[in-house]
Amino acid sequence: MREFDFIVIGSGIAGLSYALKAAEKGSVALVTKRRTVDSNTAWAQGGVACVVSEEDSFDLHIRDTLVAGAGLCNEEAVRTVITEGPERIAGLVELGMQFDERDSANGERELDLGKEGGHSKRRVLHFQDTTGFEIERTLVERIADHPAITVLENHMAVDFLTTGKLGYAMQDSCVGVYVLDEASGLVETLRSDTVVLATGGCGKVYLYTTNPDVATGDGVAMAWRAGAVIANMEFIQFHPTCLFHSKAKSFLISEAMRGEGGILLDAKGRRFMENHHPQKELAPRDIVARAIDAEMKRSGSKCVFLDITHKPADFLKSRFPSIYETCLSHGIDITTQPIPVVPAAHYQCGGVKTDLNGETSLRGLYAIGEVASTGLHGANRLASNSLLEGLVLAHRAYEKTTRQRKPRIEFNLPEWRPGQVQDVDELVVIYHNWDEIRRLMWDYVGIVRTDKRLQRAATRLRNLHAEIQEFYWNFKVSTELLELRNLVAVASLIVDCAISRKESRGLHFTLDYPEIDDAKFLRETTIRRT
Ligand code: SIN
Repeated sequence: MREFDFIVIGSGIAGLSYALKAAEKGSVALVTKRRTVDSNTAWAQGGVACVVSEEDSFDLHIRDTLVAGAGLCNEEAVRTVITEGPERIAGLVELGMQFDERDSANGERELDLGKEGGHSKRRVLHFQDTTGFEIERTLVERIADHPAITVLENHMAVDFLTTGKLGYAMQDSCVGVYVLDEASGLVETLRSDTVVLATGGCGKVYLYTTNPDVATGDGVAMAWRAGAVIANMEFIQFHPTCLFHSKAKSFLISEAMRGEGGILLDAKGRRFMENHHPQKELAPRDIVARAIDAEMKRSGSKCVFLDITHKPADFLKSRFPSIYETCLSHGIDITTQPIPVVPAAHYQCGGVKTDLNGETSLRGLYAIGEVASTGLHGANRLASNSLLEGLVLAHRAYEKTTRQRKPRIEFNLPEWRPGQVQDVDELVVIYHNWDEIRRLMWDYVGIVRTDKRLQRAATRLRNLHAEIQEFYWNFKVSTELLELRNLVAVASLIVDCAISRKESRGLHFTLDYPEIDDAKFLRETTIRRT
């Protein structure tokens, strides 16, 4: 058993920011299941929404966030994240992060602010179209060789150790975590009174996603198994524009492109967003994604098109270099051709329920970033609000967890018991179950839902759950098997939450209850393992 003052699971903006701060106060284990840089943050293109311009105001950003959230945002969370944002951005810049600038009207340099759907002002700080990658790089550079941080790459968290499960007569608390070292195949016990989940979201639960392979909902699944309260999992955001190409896996075409004037066209080259919303291509994401879905269903076409060819080629190459190069590598020149796009699962708006210090309902367990549900996003996240939330909540959790720390209590933590150790000789079954979950979630629990489809998904997931549990007990654990176990748990949570919300609100749209029903459902959905 190894002991640390703080254990952080996950290495995106929230986990790395927290780890760097906490390392000033004690020893930190940073557990990450692949390389440190393999995170959703590194894939974020658009940027960070933050009030930094004189033409903007906190009140406007708060209003836009509340409108997108469709009545379910926690106003205190919204105000806190938005008003504390500028200070946290300044901290990131101090660490070396550079955002794009431009010449202002009076010849001075100023931040070049982007615009995205649902924002009433230009307020998205960015670095070209690779903002997340630059943030990740900045933070990883600071983490590397930090004397107080032990980075455990290729280590996957399995489950938390809690006093309840261990049979201690005290308030149930998280006191550590079992972690699989992929290289040795051994499961280690890590001990700490402060465990911070920053594992990101669960895009991989769907067949089509903009997320990297690591986004398998591990944090939500682990917290749920440990008995923490989970909230609002029915609100999965589908990004309207993922590149549609047989060889391109999960490549996002940033909303910033619509912010710079990109328009959506149907298969016959006709603009259609004006039939759906007065803000057209810059309507909130749920509306744009549903409009594209409707257009594709209506016309039977496999994709729609994003056209930005009316902008100068030089501008496109310098503002969107990564999108330009990637599309070109697939034979699409965005300066002369419209880009084929489809909606894809992008962001988990619910998660492990926390307060505004990242504290979950399980003592000692904190959750920050996409894995958490603070109430900022409500029923639909405003574009580019999430990197900001990651920064603000990492700081608040750091303040909370380092204030008045008590001496560590001695617990007798049991070693991991591997059960009947066998190699997974049936890898094909694991891959089959992965595919089945992702396809059924796409077909039955996607952008447009019905009771019948949700029930069908629930029944299939129950069977898959039983089968995967059997593997888990009988076979030697591997990263693939652990991810599959988490995937089926998270898929079931999404379906259970969706079944219980008998209305349409924000990202949850069902043909059986197409209207919003404030009288019954102006509240978050919570779920807890009993
Ligand atoms: C994008 O660049 O379109 C993604 C921004 C976000 O999801 O916040």
